[in-house]
This record gives sequence, C-alpha cells and structure tokens, in this order.
Amino acid sequence: MSDILNNKRLLLIIGGGIAAYKVLELIRRLKERNVRIRPILTKGGAQFVTPLSVSALAEEKVYQDIFSLTDEAEMGHIRLSRETDLVLVAPATADLMAKMAAGIADDLATTTLLATDKPVLIAPSMNTMMWEHPATQRNLDRLQEDGIGIIQPGSGDLACGEVGAGRLAEVPDIIRTIENFFESRRAQSALTGKHVIVTAGPTHEAIDPVRYIANRSSGKQGYAIASALVDLGARVTLVSGPTALDCPDGVERINVETARDMNAAVDAALPADVAVCVAAVADWRTEGCAEQKIKKQGGGLPDLHLVENPDILRALSQKSERRPALVIGFAAETENVADHARAKRERKGCDWIVANNVSFSDGVSVMGGDTNAVLLITEEGELSWPEAGKDQIARQLAAEIEKKFRQQAEQEKK
Ligand code: CTP
Repeated sequence: MSDILNNKRLLLIIGGGIAAYKVLELIRRLKERNVRIRPILTKGGAQFVTPLSVSALAEEKVYQDIFSLTDEAEMGHIRLSRETDLVLVAPATADLMAKMAAGIADDLATTTLLATDKPVLIAPSMNTMMWEHPATQRNLDRLQEDGIGIIQPGSGDLACGEVGAGRLAEVPDIIRTIENFFESRRAQSALTGKHVIVTAGPTHEAIDPVRYIANRSSGKQGYAIASALVDLGARVTLVSGPTALDCPDGVERINVETARDMNAAVDAALPADVAVCVAAVADWRTEGCAEQKIKKQGGGLPDLHLVENPDILRALSQKSERRPALVIGFAAETENVADHARAKRERKGCDWIVANNVSFSDGVSVMGGDTNAVLLITEEGELSWPEAGKDQIARQLAAEIEKKFRQQAEQEKK
C-alpha cells in the first residue's frame, strides 16, 4: 500500500506567530513523505521565519503578495487556491481566525482562503488569554460550522511566559491529522474497491528490428489519471506503451509495445468498472515486421504496406459482455476540436470523451508537455477546463468519475 501522503499537494499558509519556527520542522517532515508544498507567507509570518528558509525547505517558491505582478503572472491567487488537495493554516493566529470567520480578504492568505474550494485545516497558536477569549471561541465555533477542521492547540509553557492552552499542536500530531484527513477521504470515496483500466503512452509498431511507427505521447496524462484514481481508492491497472515514466505508487502496470499487445492486455484485465483510454495508439502498422533491417534500395523506396490497428476504445465501448459501466476516451485533435470530439464519442460509442488540442503552438504541444486544457463531453453536458498541469486535469477527471459513482450509489439507495 502506498504512503497516504505521497505526492499530495498542500497549500501551507504560515501566519504571524512565534510558533512559525515549528512550521519549518513540519515542512521538513512532510517533504520526507513526498508532500508537495506551496507556501504562502503572511506579512506577520515573515517576521518570524524568512521566505528563504521556507522556500529552501519546501523546495518551492514562496508566495507573499497579492499585488505582485510576477506572482500573479506565474500563479494567480485563484489557481493557487484550487491547485491543491488541502489547505493548512499553521500557525493560525487569533487575527487570521477572526478574518477567516468574518470572510475578510485583505491579503494573499485571506483572499486565497476565501477563494478556495478545497478542505481547510487550521492549527491555532496564541496566548492562553487570547485563545480563551470569547471572541476567539466565537470565531472558532463559526469556523467549525463552516466546515473548517481544527487541529487543537496543546497546553503548557507558552512563548510569552504564561502557562495554559494555546500552544501550536506538535508536528507529529499535525501530520497525523493530515493523514487522517486523506485516509477518511479515501475511505468515503465511491471508487473504493472499483477496478479501473487506464491505457497510456504511445504504442510502437515495428517496421523492422530497428525502426517503428510511433507518436509524441509521453504517457504523462494517463499516468497522472491512474495516480489520481488510486488516491480515490480505486484499484488501477495501467496498460502502458513505452514511456520513460515510473509506475505511480499503488498502481499495477502492464507494459506493452504494440496496439495489438495493448488490446490483448486490456482484454485480459477485464472485468472493470471503468476504462479510461488515454493512450495515443498508433492507428496503423506495417503488414508484418521485416526480419532484418530494411536496406536502402539505390533510391527506390521500401514497400511499406500499412494496415489498421485494432481500436481498443471502440471494442471496449461496443462489448456486449463485460463492458465497463463507464468507458472514457480521449480525443486528440488539431482542428475543430469540440465538433470532432463529439463525433468521435458517437462513432466509438464511449460514454465520455475528453477532448484536447494537440497541435503545436510556439513549439510546444500537449503531447509530451506538462499541461493540458480539455473539454469533457458526457451524456449530461460539457465541461471546459482551462490550461492546468496534467496532474490537476487528472484529479478533476477522477473527481468527476467518483461523483458519477457516488450519485449512482445514492440513487440505488432510494
Ligand atoms: N484509441 C484506441 N485504439 C486505437 C486508436 C485510438 O483505443 N487504435 C483510443 C484512444 O486511446 C483515445 C481515442 O481512441 O481514447 C481517440 O483517439 P484519437 O487518436 O483521438 O482518435 P482516432 O481513433 O485515432 O481517430 P482519428 O485519427 O481519426 O482522429
């Protein structure tokens, strides 16, 4: 079983309290568990820890200013608030808690907190009198009503010399709470125990022992989808063409070379609840593979007779037996993206199709690149997702799949 924290994304908001120094230790421990941390350092926080130390430990840029043109150009505050799995405020000062409870958004941290659609945990830290003050307790109740998770402060000697409640929770306790959060999310997911087949990468169709037909696919989008589905509790079989990528944690990978191998491996992996065909399968192969390297023929061209490969997505979609309940295809298009994709969905008979534009622009392409912008076409309508990292797109797709299964389960209960 994979480490529940592996590869999780955390937006860490560091408030202005003396306990901010403990957050450096927290970052170190979370990095050891391969958590991807994006830090926001408030003005107050920067009085206690430096942006340089936070950045060095988090191995990430530190975001500080809502009005910074460079920050906004690189990563607008809305994206910052959305491209994460969890938001953690540590230390959460009385001031930050009051602003959160009142919905005040007057700096990067509070604006991001108001704009996020992700779960938020806070680890309060302050002087005992401040913690026990009716105003703080009122704010605490309000925050809990709003669904914000509280990592209770401990009791003991405080930095101000007083003794009592208000100490930032210990680092292992904060980590334990984060683990609990992800464990319960996984346990509650409607994909828990569901089997998903994902195809990914290119296929290589040998012409002779040294040459093959292939395409620019890197496999990144398919691998990210496999990983996002595992995070939501699914059992994932990844049927992968040749790529340079490591197998994501918790995924069972079957390596294949050709379209026909991929087709056979997908068939052997059935039954499945969901199939996501992300692979850029080569449409054609040469009829037979030459046994020896084809030599140049004094200006004459080799007679490469092409034949069509099996269409894995089409075959899966049109199965009369063992058809996965949800079959999802990708449409790689270079023009009339939405129209071609809608037609492809009908033609292949899949339930959903994820359309993306794979043309070259400014020397970069979605194929092989790190980002994607997609149009998800389902039986219920269309969703357009702006350009984002492939792992972000993957998580959005995984969440939609989970939602579909959850709604189905709720309907069956009625
Ligand atoms: N696909 C497949 N097997 C094939 C070809 C494609 O499973 N032999 C799947 C891809 O994994 C993708 C979808 O079909 O989910 C669409 O692939 P795409 O390359 O966009 O379309 P093609 O079917 O190749 O059609 P065209 O080349 O005409 O656009």
